[in-house]
Amino acid sequence: MASTIFNASSSLPATLKGLDCNTYKPTLGNLRFIASPNKKSITAPKRRVLPLAKATSDVPVKTGLSDAECEAAVAAGNVPEAPPVPPTPLAPAGTPVVPSLPLSRRPRRNRRSPALRAAFQETSISPANFVYPLFIHEGEEDTPIGAMPGCYRLGWRHGLLEEVAKARDVGVNSIVLFPKVPDALKTPTGDEAYNEHGLVPRTIRLLKDKFPGIVIYTDVALDPYSSDGHDGIVREDGVIMNDETVHQLCKQAVAQARAGADVVSPSDMMDGRVGAIRDALDDAGFQHVLIMSYTAKYASSFYGPFREALDSNPRFGDKKTYQMNPANYREAMVEVHEDESEGADILLVKPGLPYLDIIRQIRDNSALPIAAYQVSGEYSMIKAGGMLKMIDEEKVMMESLLCLRRAGADIILTYFALQAARCLCGEKR
Ligand code: PBG
Repeated sequence: MASTIFNASSSLPATLKGLDCNTYKPTLGNLRFIASPNKKSITAPKRRVLPLAKATSDVPVKTGLSDAECEAAVAAGNVPEAPPVPPTPLAPAGTPVVPSLPLSRRPRRNRRSPALRAAFQETSISPANFVYPLFIHEGEEDTPIGAMPGCYRLGWRHGLLEEVAKARDVGVNSIVLFPKVPDALKTPTGDEAYNEHGLVPRTIRLLKDKFPGIVIYTDVALDPYSSDGHDGIVREDGVIMNDETVHQLCKQAVAQARAGADVVSPSDMMDGRVGAIRDALDDAGFQHVLIMSYTAKYASSFYGPFREALDSNPRFGDKKTYQMNPANYREAMVEVHEDESEGADILLVKPGLPYLDIIRQIRDNSALPIAAYQVSGEYSMIKAGGMLKMIDEEKVMMESLLCLRRAGADIILTYFALQAARCLCGEKR
């Protein structure tokens, strides 16, 4: 198991590995203080040099002299040799000769070397910060998801367990489950969502049996179970019914908690669902189960690949009457106040990278932990850019995750969780 805290350096991720505290060693060159016999100091006056035993390696051999003898020798003018002051590096021919700018502050000084950059790095990232979203289905095989290279609908009894084991090997102990529900089980009221024998509760029980230490997050919303593909119950005039949907979500959350979910995550954006779910969980004896609220979830086109993965596209219309308008900033605080007062334990912002300002706003205005969801479209764009050799996939991946942390996210839901954790652990596969 690799160490869990990593401080990324400025040029991610190659130097990041080099600066892992387990592997970083200063070079001997910096420590050497005896010049080789044919290199004479150009600045120091010629003096008698103390006899030293011959060095067999880069590190000089001790003379056996006492501290007092060493001091006396130096005081008497017998100064031991050390490497000369290095020559001033040459600029290329044609470089203009100019007086140096009279600057009292040159911020580049603090970025001069990998060690300095690592020392002053303000944000770090660790596999412990990741929550790995996993798609599951009833089948035995793992089905690739076309728009999300590297992601699969995993067989809940086989592929899923292997994927979770791989993630745990590199320090990712948190996952969030998204089910692909058979069409035959979808209804307008999404009742399969709270079937105790349904795919999600069954999978939670299996995972908790095999990996008691993992943290299981669940998605609370009706869309994978709804024949309309909406997060709530749809009235005949197309209106998404709020309070009736919340009633269903409470049953869904309790079924997930009963199966062993650690964190239930309402992603539906109905009003009042956090408080109602808290009451329902408490009434059923699940006071210990956390609620991660999708506090600021925007009606985003970045969810496209996810909806393909789960075949959960809305059958008509869009989600704009419940998810937030991407143009809005202040409105996020309305949702924050509701979720805080209703008892949310974690506040989530979604999508991630295009909404860094929202993450920062919430970080500055709430003491609760913040989650960011780097959604399917963000993942797919980085993957596509990498496959087309337009960007360096691994570096852009690590930079995007670090930036979400810098903006204020404590945890990040990301399809890159396994790949990024391997990278942080110095593995490449
Ligand atoms: C649905 C849900 C969605 C995502 C997570 N939960 C899609 C949606 O709201 O339509 C999207 C995640 C992603 O795009 O990676 N409740």
